[in-house]
Amino acid sequence: MYRTVYSPQGARVNLDGREVINMASNNYLGLASHPDVIRAAKLALDQYGVGPTASRNIVGNFPVHDELEKALAKYKGVEATLVFNCGVSANTGVIPFLVGKGDMIYSDELNHGSIIDGCRLSGATVKVYRHKNMESLEEKLKEPVVGKKLVVTDGVFSMDGDLAPLPEIADLAEKYGAMLMVDDAHGDGVMGPMGKGTVDYFELRHRVEVETGSLSKAFGSAGGFVAGSKELIESLRPKARSFIFTASPMAPCLAAAALKVIQMVSEDDTYVKRLWENREYFANRITKLGLNIGTTVTPVIPVIVGDGELAQKMSQDLFEKGIFAQAIQYPMVPKGAARLRVMISAGHTKEDLDLAGDAIEESAKTMGLI
Ligand SMILES: Cc1ncc(COP(=O)(O)O)c(C=O)c1O
Repeated sequence: MYRTVYSPQGARVNLDGREVINMASNNYLGLASHPDVIRAAKLALDQYGVGPTASRNIVGNFPVHDELEKALAKYKGVEATLVFNCGVSANTGVIPFLVGKGDMIYSDELNHGSIIDGCRLSGATVKVYRHKNMESLEEKLKEPVVGKKLVVTDGVFSMDGDLAPLPEIADLAEKYGAMLMVDDAHGDGVMGPMGKGTVDYFELRHRVEVETGSLSKAFGSAGGFVAGSKELIESLRPKARSFIFTASPMAPCLAAAALKVIQMVSEDDTYVKRLWENREYFANRITKLGLNIGTTVTPVIPVIVGDGELAQKMSQDLFEKGIFAQAIQYPMVPKGAARLRVMISAGHTKEDLDLAGDAIEESAKTMGLI
């Protein structure tokens, strides 16, 4: 059974009736319950009501959807974006649009489940390459293909917090005539200048054809999007099945909240800077303890303990100490690589991070990890 939150998302939450420091949500910039964001959502609720009750291509398109798409495009430095009701829909909508039967997809073995689903739905043949392994990718790209080719990868991998080697992937995609798609659900609002994402961080804006993202993480709302050229977005709009067949497009209040966050982060990098200060502070502390945080370079910090039961036990022990960090085990991660997945937010104070660090230290000692 999962736990229940009885408070707004924040650095501290009421979880199952108990106040805990929240080290588990994707609220990277700490803006999910910012008063200005809540105000923007409330205004949209008064103006447009609750549910859209129709697909956007029928009578469910609100001005705030169009405004959000424009603001997102400007922020990401692309020509256009299309907003979906979640990141899963963006991936399952765009991949079958890009490729189909007779085409070939090259997918990192640790890509998100919604990429895997999008690949399956497309009917294209899928070749899975070893995680971030460029020899493995090239070996597969070399094999002859008649149809189109698509290389797809997460920008930031959500379980390990490591980065895709995008410059090398872009080189190989170009060399073998493949399109390149990056899902930056965990990089948007986090990576690169002003949090514009992993593609921007690597200065690859003109070498990546398609990006997908989520508004449920750093942007503190819920929703997803596809970003790219005007031509791509305009031809995707009438065709993406997860877009045209749903009468549950992004609710206008959620779009208004996301728009507010985009406006805030476009003008002010304080939140992104605070996130990274917190990330460095916490990662240093955990590394000094001698705990294994794998290959993370982002605010997703796995504390790898190995055994699944041990990860569960540690998560429960931390909960009793007033800290919530989610235990993740097989099949979410490979067998023997169970972990606590610690998520850092700009909303955490130093005191929150110290308390979480103390509790992890104490718990790791009790469990014989250090
Ligand atoms: C890499 C990645 N892509 C896509 C998604 C799906 O986004 P959403 O939560 O908006 O459906 C997630 C996580 O939720 C993710 O981690």
